[in-house]
Amino acid sequence: MPEPKPVEALSEAEAAAELTQLADEIAAHDIRYYQEEAPSVSDAEYDALKLRNAALEARFPQLVRENSPTWRVGAPRAASFAPVEHGVPMLSLDNAFSDDDAREFDARVRRFLRLEGETIGYTAEPKIDGLSASLRYERGVFVQGATRGDGRVGEDVTDNLKTIGEIPRALRGDDWPDVIEVRGEVYFGHDDFAALNEAAVAAGQRTYVNPRNAASGSLRQIDPRITAQRRLRFFAYAWGSVSRPFAETQWQALEALRRWGFLVTPQARRVENADGLLAAYAEMERLRPRLNFDIDGVVYKVDRLDWQQRLGFVSRSPRWAVARKFPAQQARTILNAIDLQVGRTGAVTPVARLQSVTVGGVVVENATLHNADEIARKDIRVGDTVIVQRAGDVIPQVVGVVLDERPAGAEAFEFPTRCPCPLATPLARDVQGEDAEGNSIYGVVRRCTGEFACPFQRVEHLIHFVSRRAFDIEGLGVKQLQAFYDEDLIREPADIFRLARNEAAIAALKEREGYGETSVRNLVNSIESRRRIPLDRFINALGVRHVGETTALALARGYGSASAFLAAMDKVAAGEADAVAELDAFDQIGPAVIEATAAYFAEDHNRRIVAELVAEIAIEDVERPKTDTAVAGKTVVFTGSLERLTRDEAKAQAEALGAKVASSVSRKTDLVVAGPGAGSKLKAAADLGVKVLTEDEWLALVGG
Ligand code: IVH
Repeated sequence: MPEPKPVEALSEAEAAAELTQLADEIAAHDIRYYQEEAPSVSDAEYDALKLRNAALEARFPQLVRENSPTWRVGAPRAASFAPVEHGVPMLSLDNAFSDDDAREFDARVRRFLRLEGETIGYTAEPKIDGLSASLRYERGVFVQGATRGDGRVGEDVTDNLKTIGEIPRALRGDDWPDVIEVRGEVYFGHDDFAALNEAAVAAGQRTYVNPRNAASGSLRQIDPRITAQRRLRFFAYAWGSVSRPFAETQWQALEALRRWGFLVTPQARRVENADGLLAAYAEMERLRPRLNFDIDGVVYKVDRLDWQQRLGFVSRSPRWAVARKFPAQQARTILNAIDLQVGRTGAVTPVARLQSVTVGGVVVENATLHNADEIARKDIRVGDTVIVQRAGDVIPQVVGVVLDERPAGAEAFEFPTRCPCPLATPLARDVQGEDAEGNSIYGVVRRCTGEFACPFQRVEHLIHFVSRRAFDIEGLGVKQLQAFYDEDLIREPADIFRLARNEAAIAALKEREGYGETSVRNLVNSIESRRRIPLDRFINALGVRHVGETTALALARGYGSASAFLAAMDKVAAGEADAVAELDAFDQIGPAVIEATAAYFAEDHNRRIVAELVAEIAIEDVERPKTDTAVAGKTVVFTGSLERLTRDEAKAQAEALGAKVASSVSRKTDLVVAGPGAGSKLKAAADLGVKVLTEDEWLALVGG
């Protein structure tokens, strides 16, 4: 990517646009990472997005969005498990990437405690790469267990955790506090992970990309009997609420956990001072290849708990601990070719075809090259020896070229100007705005201009249509859709529903290789079960640019019914001012969405596709915001830390009662709900004479 503009050089409007885009992008990555367990960027790229977001927010505090990624650790809970509020939030750790960072951590601790020159004890523990869980014990009995969720509220997975042999149902000994939340990591051993995937391959099922995803997928099964078949394991390393103190140091705490029947990583060490931290890291790097579980670094913790207490927390991480991360794993190989992949919206991504190479234990043959600018910036040429990197489990990437090994005659890569699809439509770059002289500013993404004529985009569109957050049709994967498309069986969404009613086609399917009576019946059933669909999913499935899950929900809430939505879209496409103004007034809808919906519904082809789909299905209304409550129609801003509600809950509650939730205080704001730590927004409210409520007053007002 080209260097982004420095934050200081951005206008407020540019910053606002970028924050909107970052919020969407980060939310999408969160969903891919936490819910779909299929991340598509490296941790480093993800961290860079979050950092940029934080820098923008620091410079433009008035632009902090209600759904700012800064508020969230992890991702929202999946809908299927009951929520559990953690007695003490489950926080994240700050990262350290070098010996210098580790020394700086030690120096910071000393400065804070005013203990320069004295001995400070630390624990250094493997950072297990699984998923954290919190286990509540009352009078020594395991009563409830939860995932981390967003850090404050997790998912109740008690029954699933009970299937894990390494989690004691009852604590041993008798010196445990009456109430204690034991925290640790649920993970898969390498051996069990390999066996799980082998069994999946044998059964023709999907495999997991890595042990962490397998652990997360296995623990979050709705049916605990499935979890029970997976050999999940557990290491304890921390605790949340406790009814009384039970140790004076982290080390004693680990010993206590061991005494009560938990497994604690045998590689944990007690060390002293910065030198001890560095030595422990070096040892862990050495041990890593021999461990039966994945670790992605070392966690350093100040040993004395009274010092931990004094050090406390900064925002969402403790000052008394840090995660020293291992560097990403890299290898060298030859770049054989550069191909283009076309996504649903026509975005073209260059993909490196590599001579196969093992990176950190995984065979890599393809890697992303991001975009044309990146290829040019790194001057990557076919035939080059390149450095490939895998961080965590994300798509491998080409990070650079070994210039010394460039073969004579290797030519600079010329990015194709046409789509690789059979139509070879021209590629164009998105226009992102204008500079001061009125020249267009282009984005880095190249897009095929063929839209619905481009078969690649049409297949991608179908893949999106059946995906989990859209129509969620099981049994129609990438392979099947591609095959059905090639055979003219499914060309557009309505065809999916027509197929399920087409006896001749169904009979023919049963004869195909790899299909049988059962799988065809399952496919037909899963299609039929989706003939009724909530309006927001329907809108999301249409694949309008800039209209993802969140925007689709905002549109669905705004219009309420499919007929109102479709009628309004026709008017928006025709440029009718009233209809555009109505759309513009909905929460979360901005110019990009208006432009994209207008363009989509102005297209005859799209209108026909939608009409034919609508004829096949029943679209359920979505509840519109209420108009008869104390806060209906009011614009509310939440600021500071809320204590009885999470921000998401507060927002959902306000919206359900017909209020609009905004992120900054302006003349249009009717109410500001302020918790402890409220700053500039509280001041803005005072300046503008906006009414301010405490959280309790708000709850009283809305009857919560
Ligand atoms: S201590 C206040 N110790 O790392 C932080 N965490 O980024 C308490 N993790 O969510 C966490 N091994 O899932 C701690 N030995 C260890 C750990 C560990 C892995 C994970 C944990 C947490 C994340 C923090």
